[in-house]
Order: sequence, then structure tokens, then C-alpha cells
Amino acid sequence: MILIIDFGSQYNQLIARRVREYHVFCQIESPDITLDHIKSLNPHGIILSGGPSSIYEKNSPEIDSRIFNLGIPVLGICYGMQFMINTLGGNVKKAKKREYGFADLKIKKQVDIFKDVEKNESCWMSHGDSIESLPPGFKITASTENTKIAATAYGKKRFFGLQFHPEVAHTPKGKTMIRNFLFDICGCKKTWNMKSFADTAINLVKEKVGNDRVILGLSGGVDSSVTAILIHNAIGKRLTCIFVDNGLLRKDETKKLKLTLREHLKLTIRFVSARTKFLKALKNVEDPEKKRKIIGRIFMEVFEAEAKKIKGAKYLAQGTLYPDIIESISPFGGPTAVIKSHHNVGGLPKKMKLKLVEPLKYLFKDEVRSLGKELGMNDDLVWRQPFPGPGLAIRIIGEVTSKRLSILREADAVLLEEIKKAGYYKKVWQSFAVLLPLKSVGIMGDKRTYENIVAIRAVTSKDAMTADWARLPQKLLGTISNRIINEVAGVNRVVYDISSKPPSTIEWE
Ligand code: XMP
Repeated sequence: MILIIDFGSQYNQLIARRVREYHVFCQIESPDITLDHIKSLNPHGIILSGGPSSIYEKNSPEIDSRIFNLGIPVLGICYGMQFMINTLGGNVKKAKKREYGFADLKIKKQVDIFKDVEKNESCWMSHGDSIESLPPGFKITASTENTKIAATAYGKKRFFGLQFHPEVAHTPKGKTMIRNFLFDICGCKKTWNMKSFADTAINLVKEKVGNDRVILGLSGGVDSSVTAILIHNAIGKRLTCIFVDNGLLRKDETKKLKLTLREHLKLTIRFVSARTKFLKALKNVEDPEKKRKIIGRIFMEVFEAEAKKIKGAKYLAQGTLYPDIIESISPFGGPTAVIKSHHNVGGLPKKMKLKLVEPLKYLFKDEVRSLGKELGMNDDLVWRQPFPGPGLAIRIIGEVTSKRLSILREADAVLLEEIKKAGYYKKVWQSFAVLLPLKSVGIMGDKRTYENIVAIRAVTSKDAMTADWARLPQKLLGTISNRIINEVAGVNRVVYDISSKPPSTIEWE
């Protein structure tokens, strides 16, 4: 495995992605990690990430300098390189000129990390500090116009430093450099695949849980479904899933889940119908954050009451993914401002005194999908678009009523059907309908109508942090609009949302 030390760079997840794309397992850890812990992980190589700090600042993050005595190859990127150089006796100073963006890289010395890389390459820089002098043993291996020491190496010790970012797409040969580090320098083998992950994860769950029982909150999304199937593979009937039907789901969702997860995959699932409870609590509520809070609270109440009926449960399984963990590891914390209080079941375990099982906590979303396939999930489930916990409640602007829910559900079903038919379901990140709290005048069969407006939202995105409106074909948009207006009673106008995130968000509420 490769150990990645997180000095706070916004690109850390990308480093991990790049390593895993080469089928090598890697783990991101905070600089606080102890030397013993590092030794116990037994990494083939260590990557020190970039970060926003300056090495000469007080409290800049640092890792135990004895890592350089372990005989393990090290790749320092940006701040990581500066940390290595500074620790080993070199000198880092504020650069005369900040360098940000593309730069022409001139390779001065062919070292292992530059195998299959041309003498002149493009690279992506983002730094305000530069290395002034190198410690003994290190050589300059590449320069740019503004940065003399753009790359360095201490061949004998297998230490490499890159001032630029090999993990971003803007460094075209960056992937090659990472490949060289993994295989030529660290001697890694391509052993990381979903089959091996599944086998190991299943065994780990068996070991951890023993003969106890596990409860899992099933939402129908990819993460909780894959978690459920994996744990089911490990402990069979001792896993009980609880599915809370809050009445805020898309059309036929519960029915489909029953069929795929219960009938086909044989999971033990308790379906709890709590529609009226949720709807009653949402009466007269218009504020999006209030809706979220209410839905979160009722979900917990219902879930807890049901969980109590399962005697002898000691564990709660959750579909936590790696990005959530990385955010909490980073020395700079997660996102700064709460824009929306995205709820999940995070508050449950403490209250219920259950121990956590999180078998997906080292996976990225696309890896979860491959794992799902590996475990026999059908494409429909594996490729489900993300769906927010509060469901249609935050896609009905204003008060949620059963009438408005059924209008939105129908419109949304038409939209999804057409998006799927046109082959866009997997191409976009999310696609859905939103019901507006507005009416507009229309004409149908020579008669005046005064009905609701539905907005269509379809976005492309990699991680939901940023998103762009999807350029859906006009013909497809036309078909969706026609069908919704013709088939969904209560709608006489359809509009398309052409805002990106930021400054908008994906959901309207
Ligand atoms: P926004 O609207 O913030 O959405 O751009 C980003 C992603 O998060 C989903 N989302 C939620 N998920 N509970 C959830 O579980 C929520 O309250 C919530 N609000 C938004 C949204 O669908 C998108 O994928």
C-alpha cells in the first residue's frame, strides 16, 4: 500500500484516485500519525501531499521526521516536497514570483520518476514558496522559468520532490510520474481490485461482528445498498435492514427496492411505512432548513423505534464513504460554511449505543459502484443517481402536501423515463423535476388553465461540490415538456434550469 500524508491540499483525493486507478491500495492519513502506526501499515511508499501552509510559518503541519529513516521511498508534492527538503537540511523561502497555472517544465536530469516523460513537458504549478537550496544528496532534476528547483531527487534514498502537481489533469504526464513512483520506485503490485476488496471486507466484517446482530438504515441509494449486500454476504440473516418509507420518495421506489433487494438479493428488510407521520409534521412548513430538521428528527424516531424491536443488535452499519472520512482527517477540516444541513444517520449511533460498521469507508463513489457490480447488484441499482435524504420535500418549493407530492412524482417519473430512454441517465450526475410554488396561465383545448409550473434540473458533476447544467438535447427537453404538460394533471408549464453551482446549488432548496 501507499500512505498519503494529508497536508491539507485541495487535490488530496485526486492523489488517492490516481494511485487507485493503477490498482494500488492507498490510505490518506493526517500528519499526526505516529511512527508506530506508519510501521504497522507497512507502506511501500509515502506520498507527502501539498497544502496551503508555508513551511516557515508557526504551526505549519509536520509529520514525524523519522519517516525519512525508514528506508521507504518518499514522494513530496509541493508543500510535501518543501517539508522534506526543509526537514533534511535545505532551505525554503517565499518565492519572488508566485507561480500559479501552467508552466513549461524542463527536465534536467533523467531520474526514475521521469521515465517515459519528454525533456520538455507542461505542468501545473500552485505555490508561493520555493526551495532555495537543497540538502546534501539531493539534485535538481527539473526547472521552470520561475522555479529553478521545480523537481528534485535523492536517487540513492529514493526520495523525490515535485513542486508542481502530478495528480491534476493539467500536468499531462503527471499520471506517468505517479505510475513510475508506484511501480519502478516503490515496487508496488497491481493487487487492488474490487474482488480482492470484497473478499477482505467480508472477512473483516465477519471477524468484527462475530455472532452478533447488525442493523442498517437502508435508503435505497447505492451506498447503503452496497453496504447491506456486503454485510449480508458476511453474516447473512444476522443483518436486519430498516427501510423507512417517508412518503417523499420517487414514484414506485419502494416497490422497486422490495423487488431488487428483498426478492433478488434476499436481504432481510423491515419496511416501515411512516408517510402520514412525515406529512403531518411537514404541514405548513415552507422553510427548507426546517423541512430538513423535521425530516431528520422523524426519521430518527421511526428508525429508533424499529431498531429497538430487533433484539440483541450490537452494531449499526453505515455506508460512509472515503471522501467523508478524508474531510474529517484534513488538518484544515471540512467545508467552512453550512449552506444546507445535509442530514444522514450520523446522530444515531451515540444515542443508541451501537458500535459502527463502515465497510465502505475507504472507497470512492465509483469504486462503490464497481463493488456493487462485483457483489451482483443490477445496473439499475448500481447506477442510481444520488437522491437527497429529505427526498421530494426539498423539490417541492413551499409547503409539502400529498397533492403536490403526487404531481411532482408523476412529472419526475416522466422526466426520468425520457432521460433513461435517451441514454442520459448515467451521463448526468442528477436529473429531476422541481415543483414551483407558482401558477401560470395556459390554454388547453381552447380553455384557459391556471396551473402549476415544473422546473427540470439536470446537472453534470464529479462530486456535487461544483456542477454545471447539463446541455440536454433540445429534442429531449421538448419531449419531456410535452409529456409532462399532457400527462400530468395540474401542470401547464415546464421550464429548464440553466444555472451552475456555484453560485446556485443543485437542489432548489
Ligand atoms: P446541493 O443542493 O447542496 O446538493 O448542491 C449537493 C448534493 O447533495 C444532495 N443533497 C442532500 N443530500 N440530504 C442529503 O442526503 C440533504 O438534505 C441534501 N440536500 C442536498 C443533492 O441531491 C446533491 O447531490
